[in-house]
Amino acid sequence: MFAVYADQINPESPLDGLVVGDRPEPQAPEGWTTVTVKAASINHHDVWSLRGVGLPADRLPMILGCDAAGLDEDGNEVVVHAVISDPAWRGDETLDPKRSLLSERHQGTFAERVTVPTRNVVAKPAGLTFAEAACLPTAWLTAYRMLFTQSGLKQGDSVLVQGAGGGVATAAITLARAAGFRVYATSRDEEKRQRAVEIGAHEAFESGARLPSKVDAVIETVGAATWSHSVKSMRPGGTIVIAGATSGDAPSHAELTRIFFQQMRVHGSTMGTRDELHALAQFMDVTGTKPLIDREIPMADAAEGLGAVIDGSVFGKIVLTL
Ligand SMILES: NC(=O)c1ccc[n+]([C@@H]2O[C@H](COP(=O)([O-])OP(=O)(O)OC[C@H]3O[C@@H](n4cnc5c(N)ncnc54)[C@H](OP(=O)(O)O)[C@@H]3O)[C@@H](O)[C@H]2O)c1
Repeated sequence: MFAVYADQINPESPLDGLVVGDRPEPQAPEGWTTVTVKAASINHHDVWSLRGVGLPADRLPMILGCDAAGLDEDGNEVVVHAVISDPAWRGDETLDPKRSLLSERHQGTFAERVTVPTRNVVAKPAGLTFAEAACLPTAWLTAYRMLFTQSGLKQGDSVLVQGAGGGVATAAITLARAAGFRVYATSRDEEKRQRAVEIGAHEAFESGARLPSKVDAVIETVGAATWSHSVKSMRPGGTIVIAGATSGDAPSHAELTRIFFQQMRVHGSTMGTRDELHALAQFMDVTGTKPLIDREIPMADAAEGLGAVIDGSVFGKIVLTL
């Protein structure tokens, strides 16, 4: 079948290991099911995979992609939950030490078909297209868990979203506004700052700029480049929820003194559970919220989309269609 996969690891030049070609049809083991992919979305995770982060060379070739929306074996419209936990695991799948994401141990979604455990398919929200639904499983689910499970935010509270243009960040801005939070965003780019306001931020600032007031929580996925600003922007007792470190994980100032003296919480977050994906789908149906798609391109042009994620010229999600 047609597939987009990693054939080599290249930390410096990740696209060198990308192949658009053919892979064998997936065989669903007992308890797994096959989804026919209609749309898949790109995440920074796919770039990390090509760089060899979380994907050692001995697992190649590996079909990329965590996210997909498509049809299950009975023709139902579904979204794939990308967190694959051990069959024996009970409870929050993201806490299973043996968990992996699609495309780490099991073949990913950038293909005509993907197999997943039966419990990893969730009904597609009726109001979303396949392309929109394909944005939910990683970026939108991660933002949902950060905001609604980990942050402790209540309606009327304030939240800072760092790096406004990213997939997780655009999701967090949109969801936070829909949930009744005061939303501040930062971006390095003036046009992205304007667009952040258009999708729901009350105000947007240059990266590192002083905010009008301290915030109750920060949604942090940029890492080293914004960490110090995240800590300095928080009110005493606030919470930084961190789910990524695109710019590196060794900030020049860790701000340890400020963190303990101001009694802040630092809360790590990874993906979300199947139940949270279901809850996200319902939230989107009820609020009429839709994922922001930067562009929709044929899956055969995956290199173009991954290149845009690498150089940061993206606002929202890039969706690959079949
Ligand atoms: N833990 C998890 O489960 C989980 C889930 C999803 C994503 N992640 C991680 O979270 C991060 C974001 O993911 P994504 O898919 O949203 O990525 P993305 O779409 O590539 O977004 C990255 C954003 O970070 C900002 N940024 C990058 N480098 C920066 C720098 N040097 N200084 C300031 N801002 C910078 C940019 O915002 P501006 O251009 O607007 O400044 C960019 O749009 C990735 O590292 C990803 O691996 C983790």
